[in-house]
Amino acid sequence: MKTPIIAPSVLSANFANLQADFEMLNKSEADFIHIDVMDGVFVPNISFGLPIIKAMRPLSSKTFDVHLMIVEPDKYIDAFKEVGANILSVHIEACTHLHRSIQKIKSTGMKAGVAINPHTSISLLEDTIEEIDLVCVMSVNPGFGGQKFIENTYDKVARLKDLILKQNSKALIEIDGGVTLQNARKLVDKGADVLVAGNTVFNSENPIQTIQQLRNS
Ligand code: DX5
Ligand code: ZN
Repeated sequence: MKTPIIAPSVLSANFANLQADFEMLNKSEADFIHIDVMDGVFVPNISFGLPIIKAMRPLSSKTFDVHLMIVEPDKYIDAFKEVGANILSVHIEACTHLHRSIQKIKSTGMKAGVAINPHTSISLLEDTIEEIDLVCVMSVNPGFGGQKFIENTYDKVARLKDLILKQNSKALIEIDGGVTLQNARKLVDKGADVLVAGNTVFNSENPIQTIQQLRNS
């Protein structure tokens, strides 16, 4: 059985005591830390930006998986590299020149991710999938933690997996939104490599154990 990479989303962390939550993450089997940046324009919510990520960086050596839910992401690629992002995902819906954005991210040494909204077809990735390191499949409409998982995602992940195999791409499939202990295994069986989990991890009684359970589900 394939073991997924677990990426707890700090959108659900305690912002008044990030240090404690990062200590928990460091002790856990989480491989990535998922960091959601929202601008109040691309999505109807504002989260946090560059200075907060800079403050988080010394708290952990784990992979910072930064998910930009912002318009005009190209303007900020270098700045996210400087504050310590390791993977940078831009939304396909926010990029007029997606190929250029991917190249720019990779030129900084970061891994290039592309996030796609629930309404966006996988077929739009046909001409770039070979260049992409990670596809972040949104399984909720982006903007908030704790939303209900959209069931169509299973089929979408299976179609994306086919595309990746057909084109011999190395892209990882990440699922973002509404991931629980109940749907984790089915997602991995359909082809998911990375599971993001905010609410499921941070609102559980024992987050370290929940991360382990997600990994072994
Ligand atoms: C939603 C964000 C997610 C969010 C997931 O817009 O991109 O990363 O934190 O939260 P849960 O796991 O609670 O659905
Ligand atoms: Zn996210």
